[in-house]
Amino acid sequence: NNSDIYRYPLQLPDTLNSDQLRASRDNLTIAEQYTLEALQFNGSLPGPTIRMKRGEQFQVQFHNDIGQESIIHWHGMIVPPDMDGHPKDVISEGSYSYDFKINQRAGTYWYHPHPHRITGPQVYRGLAGFFIVTDDEEEALNLPSGDYELPLVIQDRKIDDSGNIYYDPSMPERMMTGYLGEHILVNGVPNPYHEVQPRPYRLRLLNGSNARIYNIAFRDDNSFTVIGSDGGLLPQPVETTELLLAPGERADILVDFSNGFSNNSAELISKTFSVPSNGGMMGNMSQMMGQGSPEQGSEFPLMEFRIGNEINSSNFVDLPQQLSEVNFPIEDNAVRTRSIELNMEMMTGHTINGRLFEMLRVDEKITQGDTEIWEFINNSAVPHPMHIHAVQFKVLSRNGNRDLIPTETGWKDTVLVMPGERVRVIVTFDALKGLYVFHCHNLEHEDAGMMANLEIT
Ligand code: C2O
Ligand code: CU
Repeated sequence: NNSDIYRYPLQLPDTLNSDQLRASRDNLTIAEQYTLEALQFNGSLPGPTIRMKRGEQFQVQFHNDIGQESIIHWHGMIVPPDMDGHPKDVISEGSYSYDFKINQRAGTYWYHPHPHRITGPQVYRGLAGFFIVTDDEEEALNLPSGDYELPLVIQDRKIDDSGNIYYDPSMPERMMTGYLGEHILVNGVPNPYHEVQPRPYRLRLLNGSNARIYNIAFRDDNSFTVIGSDGGLLPQPVETTELLLAPGERADILVDFSNGFSNNSAELISKTFSVPSNGGMMGNMSQMMGQGSPEQGSEFPLMEFRIGNEINSSNFVDLPQQLSEVNFPIEDNAVRTRSIELNMEMMTGHTINGRLFEMLRVDEKITQGDTEIWEFINNSAVPHPMHIHAVQFKVLSRNGNRDLIPTETGWKDTVLVMPGERVRVIVTFDALKGLYVFHCHNLEHEDAGMMANLEIT
């Protein structure tokens, strides 16, 4: 019986639009709520959903009341270097002013802390929220909105006997797998349910987990339509029955609850998938140690949509075959190929091109405006979702057994590189000159130093 699994109603975080942000002086405060051992933005978990339109000016005072260093990064947004939440810009108290113009495609972006070595625990304890950008092109499509548009952040947690979440990674979790929890939370609620009408809904999915990868699917293998990825709408919609979503990645999907679900119930699950083994002792060790339950790649429930009988409003339109104009950079214009090797060494843990993060060392120097091909080569035994700040890129190819997945037909800022894979992406560095980072979005890997600086000059 599903009501045993799905016991609590889904919660939707408050929305802050540009008017509300202007009206409140105390805009984005992070504070500790001792009873829950949770860190919260403005007392909300997840943090409030920020909703802005392209062209608007985003101004917010970030107040840090948690008693440790922090700084906020706007994941997927292309902002000036001092607004990007580089770990060198941490503050340990007081406030930091963010002020930038939203100048990019509509899309599902998000925000979270980015202090070096303690991003994992801060995000884990609750600090993350959606940053939704809209624009005219997207509004013209009349996609499901209001009650029919649900931002859903999926996160796994370990919960102790008194019901509190705890963060206590073992050495193998820090160095190998990352921290995997046995409870799956959607918008902060364990395996929630949500009542829906038999009509199309837009689900904006974010994998906000530290380390866990989900293979999004429905219990009955119903198909759904992928319409967007990290950087907004895809050129064309893509039908699928499953979709891998690694930490940091987003997927914008349309689900028609009037169609094909039995017993008025649509169970969103994570379906079994395989993590290619890259052989060797490290591969075996990562399998033996640090596995949360459920294991990475096994099947488990996420949430349930309970489908009612009535439709309040039926003014939805047919999805066009062409969703958006995209101008991906073309390979002929790339001025160079950079190899980004991901390795695992007993002594250092995971490295990028053989090195651990150093705050001010410039690892990759790039000329502003250049188009480059970056080749991520995973020589290690565990998956690495690689994220580049200040850009959106296009995945060109992946060797091995996996093809590009539906979200990879659109703009990306984070790409999953499985053990043994070589993934090529093309990217134009148009952001303002300055220092930004790129890193693995497995937050335990990132905190252990799997991060590097890129400088646009
Ligand atoms: Cu979502 Cu540098 O991170
Ligand atoms: Cu990694």
